[in-house]
Amino acid sequence: MNDMTEQIATNVVWHDGEVTRADRFNRLGQKGVTIWFTGLSGSGKSTVAVAVEKALHKLGKLSYRLDGDNIRLGINKNLGFSAEDRTENIRRIGEISKLYCDTGIITLNSFISPYREDRDQVRKLHEEGGYNFIEVHVDCALECAEERDPKGLYKKARAGEIKNFTGIDDPYEPPIGAEITLHTDQMTLEEEVEIILNYLQENRFLILYR
Ligand code: ADX
Repeated sequence: MNDMTEQIATNVVWHDGEVTRADRFNRLGQKGVTIWFTGLSGSGKSTVAVAVEKALHKLGKLSYRLDGDNIRLGINKNLGFSAEDRTENIRRIGEISKLYCDTGIITLNSFISPYREDRDQVRKLHEEGGYNFIEVHVDCALECAEERDPKGLYKKARAGEIKNFTGIDDPYEPPIGAEITLHTDQMTLEEEVEIILNYLQENRFLILYR
């Protein structure tokens, strides 16, 4: 694959509209933000994101989930699980969630995103654009994720039927400076949702933007 980060098109310039980011945030009564759940397969990323989405909806807040499995059935259907493809998977999602953020949506991303460098790139992309990026380490011991094995994939990976499976024969690099860590092998789902909502409230993401 060529370097997907290279700017190939020339004579293209960013075109601003007349409705600003602040206008959109005010219209929604919330601030666009990317909440990035990273962790092993089976750690609970999607489960937490689904529950947070539900809780936010109840509060009248607009959020949207971008989920590894779903995205890999659509825009990223041409990507596999090599290191290069995982990097490109995360890069594209980083760009997409930046757009969602700019719209004013609370974007809930659930991707294994095993490489620290890839996640840091997405953080940088957001921060350079003045967008907020909250990294959530969905921390669950491998033994626990493997025991849960909701999709039966660990069993297949152990049997050698799936190659390059994260945690088995492919690496996972835990975050160093995550804003939030959820120990999903020790907490209840309700506790986890509360931690995320409290964070959003305390950091004034759920109020009118000024
Ligand atoms: S990432 O590493 O590129 O961030 P992503 O979150 O999009 O991964 O997709 C992970 C999902 O793909 C897992 O939940 C699992 O269902 C499936 N999957 C299939 N093969 C693999 C593999 N080799 N490693 C990890 N997950 C895999």
